[in-house]
Order: sequence, then structure tokens, then C-alpha cells
Amino acid sequence: MIASPAATDVDLGVFKTGKEADVSLVRRTHGERSVLLAAKHYRDADHRMFHRDAGYLEGRRMRRSRENRAMDARTEFGRELIAGQWSAAEFAVLSRLWSAGAAVPYPVQLSGTQLMMEFIGDEDGAAAPRLVQLRPPIDEAAQLFTQLRNVLTRLADAGYTHGDLSPYNVLVHRGRLVLIDLPQAVDLVGNPQGFDFLRRDCENICTWFRGRGVAADSALLYDDLVCSVPQS
Ligand SMILES: Nc1ncnc2c1ncn2[C@@H]1O[C@H](COP(=O)(O)OP(=O)(O)O)[C@@H](O)[C@H]1O
Ligand SMILES: [Mg+2]
Repeated sequence: MIASPAATDVDLGVFKTGKEADVSLVRRTHGERSVLLAAKHYRDADHRMFHRDAGYLEGRRMRRSRENRAMDARTEFGRELIAGQWSAAEFAVLSRLWSAGAAVPYPVQLSGTQLMMEFIGDEDGAAAPRLVQLRPPIDEAAQLFTQLRNVLTRLADAGYTHGDLSPYNVLVHRGRLVLIDLPQAVDLVGNPQGFDFLRRDCENICTWFRGRGVAADSALLYDDLVCSVPQS
């Protein structure tokens, strides 16, 4: 058996700065083969919009009080812990949804506080545009809406809604729609506000599609997705 050489990663720098995270391009080389990855790092809590931290972290406080105190005081150590929790949460959700066949980036690994995942874009490192940047003709828009309904149905089948769905968190690569930015995905059965999040997600995304001429009825989409949610 020939032992495969270890993979080496080359960081090609940050290519996108989002609301809460920086995303860098990484080239991973393994022998003759190489692949591009996206490495997402949640920014230092002082430089992020925090809206997701408060309610969310409440539910997953660590037992050890030194860590709770560090997170409350936002010490450097505490901020790293928070970043690590967000990455771990997103990795877990992506793993679950990828296995369920949803169009999300393939989760490659957690590396410290970074989430490494499939890069959605071209071989030369050009990232796929976000839905919000596109002005597709109506037939393409309708086709994208069908893909969106499919991915949301996969999520609902698995018991989830995105929780922060907007045309900023949807990428389109050569006509293929991919849902991103899922750390706060909402458990529809376990979360008492789950169905409120589902309704809001449907409304946000249908508004964009209606602006592109697609008859995207958010109440209808909501009703369809509710039917896909597993009975607890
Ligand atoms: N896997 C990926 N492939 C290509 N681009 C990505 C990927 N993940 C994120 N991006 C880009 O980085 C931006 C920020 O990532 P996102 O996950 O939305 O984080 P934030 O919480 O900061 O909004 C996205 O809008 C998108 O343009
Ligand atoms: Mg985002």
C-alpha cells in the first residue's frame, strides 16, 4: 500500500467579509490533487453584530464556570470560546443537512475556531454570487425558486428551518442554488418559536422572488413546509 502524503493547506486570504464572519480561500493539496476550500472564522465578538449570541448561547452554556465567566466578560479567551461554539454549531448543522441531501456546502472539518467547507465557486477562486446580486430573467428565477423550495423541504424533513434566510445567504453557482450561513438553524420541533422562524424565513425569501416576477406565495410555501416537518 502506498501511504498517501499528508495534505498541505495554503491560505489564499480573506475573500468575503460577512455580517459576522470572515471567509478565506484555502488551497488544499494532497499529492497531485488540489481542491479549494472556504474557511469561515467568526469574528471577534466586539466586531460583530451580536444579535445571534444572546438567546442562542443561553441554551448552550458550558458547565465549567471559568468558561462561562470568560464568555460573559468577553475576555480574549471567552471570545475564542464563543467563536468556537458558533463554528461547531454550524459544522454540526451542515453535517446533518448534507447527509439529508440538502444543497449546502460539504462540511470538511473544524480547525480550531474555523469551519472548513466546500468552496462554492470556480476553480480559479472566483466565489459564486449571492442571490441578492442577481437579476435573472423570470424563467431562471422560477427555476431558482423551485430549487429553493427543494432545499427548504429537505431542511423541514430533517426538522429544521434556516433561521436567518435572506437573499444574502443563498449562493448560485452556474445555475445551482446552495444555502449557506446556517449556525443558527432552528429546530422546528424543539424550539417553541420554531414555526415563527419558519414563517419569517418564507416571507423574507418570497419577497425577493416576487420582486423578480415569480409568483412566490409565502403562506403557501409555509403550509407546504409545515407538512414536511416530522411529527414529534
Ligand atoms: N462555502 C462558501 N463558498 C463560497 N463563498 C462563501 C462560502 N461561505 C460563505 N461564503 C461567502 O462569504 C459570505 C459570508 O459568509 P456567511 O456564512 O454568510 O457569514 P456571515 O454570518 O458573516 O453572513 C457569504 O455571503 C458568501 O459570499
Ligand atoms: Mg451571511
